[in-house]
Amino acid sequence: MSQILTTPAAVTARAARPRHYVMCPPTEFDVVYAINPWMDPTVAVDAATAHRQWQHLHDTYLGLGHRVDLLDPVPGLPDMVFAANGAVSVGPRTYGAAFAFPQRQAEAHAHVDFLRGAGREVERPAHVNEGEGDFLVLAELVLAGHGFRTARDAHEEAARVLDRRVVSLELVDPRFYHLDVALGVLDDGGGATPADVAWFPGAFSPSSRRVLRRLFPGSLECSEADALAFGLNLVSDGVNVVLPSEAAGLADAVAQRGYRPAPVGLTEFVKGGGSVKCCTAELHR
Ligand code: ARG
Repeated sequence: MSQILTTPAAVTARAARPRHYVMCPPTEFDVVYAINPWMDPTVAVDAATAHRQWQHLHDTYLGLGHRVDLLDPVPGLPDMVFAANGAVSVGPRTYGAAFAFPQRQAEAHAHVDFLRGAGREVERPAHVNEGEGDFLVLAELVLAGHGFRTARDAHEEAARVLDRRVVSLELVDPRFYHLDVALGVLDDGGGATPADVAWFPGAFSPSSRRVLRRLFPGSLECSEADALAFGLNLVSDGVNVVLPSEAAGLADAVAQRGYRPAPVGLTEFVKGGGSVKCCTAELHR
């Protein structure tokens, strides 16, 4: 009885929605340059382990009933496995990426070709932005990061192209150089339950922390340990939360909010500075 009384009303109402993802097989994945504090080219990547881990993530999505399309890896682009950075797609509209570092710039063209080939309209950006690395799409708005990769001016451009309200958030800790390693969308608010996010306050400027607390009262503020385990680099369908197994504290916390954690091991990709969400682009409805 007491258990029923302590269960939040929202828990019973949570519902998963089938998703449409795009992933890029890790055939080319390696760490041969360093453009974020996680990357060290002297530390070897185990290609066989990377393949196994990536395949497990891919199969986890299929097991949850989602669609996964594959983007062909391009030789010489070792970060292309981080498919989330190549664009941001909402409904029929896609806002293309323009990478901050020259090592990744060619990836943007591969995404444009792929998405146009799939019949989508893609707008090329005038400003530097790294797709869903810094733009997180919710039903009513888009959260946008700046400070390390994506230019502040890209936020307005994205709002126009995607026809969504964009809320700008400033990132201040280089370990959390993309918004998608500092904040995870647990519920996009597109169903019967309100939008819900998990985030690490230390990654944001004081004014952006205030913005987040105002937008999402009662949101899940996670520990630095869980954030450093890439726990916030999660993918949720509204019920199932796919996140790295190392973020055990966060998995417990999301379970307490009525979600179902689905832990996956992606340790090889952490060597490149990414995890679950980085490897997963979503074509949002
Ligand atoms: N090595 C890549 C970079 O630094 C990692 C990208 C991670 N992707 C992400 N969505 N956070 O650009």
